[in-house]
Amino acid sequence: MKRRLLTTGFTVTVFVLSFLNWFCNSAEKKKDEERTTYAGLSDSAQYVGMETCKGCHIEVHESFSHTGMGLSFDAASKKKSSGNFSCHPQIFDSDKNLFYHPYWKGDSLYFKEYRMEGRDTVFSREENIRYIVGSGQHTNSHIWESNGYLFQAPMTFYTQKGKWDLPPGFEDGNNTRFGRKIGLECMSCHNAYPEFVQGSENKFSLVKNGIDCERCHGPGSIHVKEKSSGILIDTSKYIDYSIVNPSKLPIYLQFDLCQRCHIQGNVVLNEGKSFFDFKPGMKLSEVMNVFMPVYKNNEEQHIMASHAERLKMSKCFLVVSEREKSKKSEKICIHSKTV
Ligand code: HEC
Ligand code: HEC
Ligand code: HEC
Ligand code: HEC
Repeated sequence: MKRRLLTTGFTVTVFVLSFLNWFCNSAEKKKDEERTTYAGLSDSAQYVGMETCKGCHIEVHESFSHTGMGLSFDAASKKKSSGNFSCHPQIFDSDKNLFYHPYWKGDSLYFKEYRMEGRDTVFSREENIRYIVGSGQHTNSHIWESNGYLFQAPMTFYTQKGKWDLPPGFEDGNNTRFGRKIGLECMSCHNAYPEFVQGSENKFSLVKNGIDCERCHGPGSIHVKEKSSGILIDTSKYIDYSIVNPSKLPIYLQFDLCQRCHIQGNVVLNEGKSFFDFKPGMKLSEVMNVFMPVYKNNEEQHIMASHAERLKMSKCFLVVSEREKSKKSEKICIHSKTV
């Protein structure tokens, strides 16, 4: 009798223990199965393009496409151009003794480069402008194409001054004429990811038309698949790990996301990495390091696109970041024009 009780007790204990073990394990497993990192960071995630996002986020798409970033890059057209063509614009580079003149032939934009001796034109070259870079909030710069190879063209329209001139960096004898290569570095800050001919310096097989959603939200294929099959998350309470919402990232990753483009220094890519490899939610240093040149006697100077650097030095940021160090950051309103 005693023996039977003991055996039963033992069996029950083993049963209870193994149940507890199973219960804990499965709870543990469940925790593992819950996504703790963003789907877009996995290798299986694909870019789907802005038109797909538009299908469900039509208002965000509409307002974003009017922002500077939405208008950052497009095929050259009369609609895209901010340039003033009304008074036969012409500029003269006295260092190179060359004239430049932009004009439309039908709907195609051309730049003409020529040299005068007395009243004779002794040299002339014309190139068809394929793309305009810059929303026109400050400037329009121009890109021409030869067999997929992209080059910057030697004229920029400065919207605030309302005039044509040599592009930034082409002044004072540094005019590279039609020869400045537009490589992946430049393209990957001003546009959606293009298709690039690896091994070339500046050959592209597909160029998109403006910074798109996935540059800030990451590749969206898994998000689209989940939402299409009705897997929904209450995003007012939880993070939807199928897509990155930058405002839900820790602040240092928010900075890294914007700094992928809003910091202009000397970039050194990590071994084996390319300009395509950064995805929102990553640390920038996993892909590249950006070294900021500091000029002697001018330590405070920053170049145009160093917004995050400038913000980090501001009193506002320093005070707030001390106070809010562990708190969630403020909402940033990036989709509407009134940033
Ligand atoms: C089939 C419809 C559908 C498509 C296509 C779609 N989304 Fe969503 N998205 C939703 C829904 C519904 C929500 C809100 C509920 C949720 O997150 O489960 C959402 C939420 C989001 C959020 C907020 C997530 C959070 O945690 O706050 C972001 C950001 C987002 N989508 C971006 C995108 C981007 C970028 C694309 C294109 C790559 C895209 N969506 C395509 C349906 C869609
Ligand atoms: C893919 C590169 C890229 C990323 C990522 C990026 N930006 Fe930009 N941003 C640009 C470029 C290029 C411009 C200049 C566009 C123009 O006017 O031609 C710009 C312009 C802006 C402007 C000026 C006005 C406007 O209407 O667009 C603001 C503000 C801005 N960015 C904020 C941000 C913030 C905040 C983030 C991070 C959440 C961010 N950007 C991420 C490239 C980027
Ligand atoms: C590290 C990212 C980065 C690289 C590389 C880069 N830019 Fe920019 N560029 C920016 C950002 C960000 C702005 C927005 C600055 C602002 O609004 O103050 C900008 C501004 C501009 C503008 C003015 C846009 C406007 O109308 O407001 C033009 C034109 C431009 N860049 C052309 C180029 C060209 C051409 C190259 C390559 C030869 C290049 N950029 C390389 C990030 C970059
Ligand atoms: C330059 C970076 C950037 C780009 C490009 C961008 N977003 Fe966002 N997006 C943000 C940031 C930052 C937030 C969080 C702050 C906010 O709510 O405005 C956000 C929030 C969202 C949200 C959740 C909040 C809401 O407003 O519903 C959705 C959905 C979304 N984005 C969709 C899109 C779609 C679709 C596109 C392309 C048409 C796009 N985003 C392009 C930076 C970007």
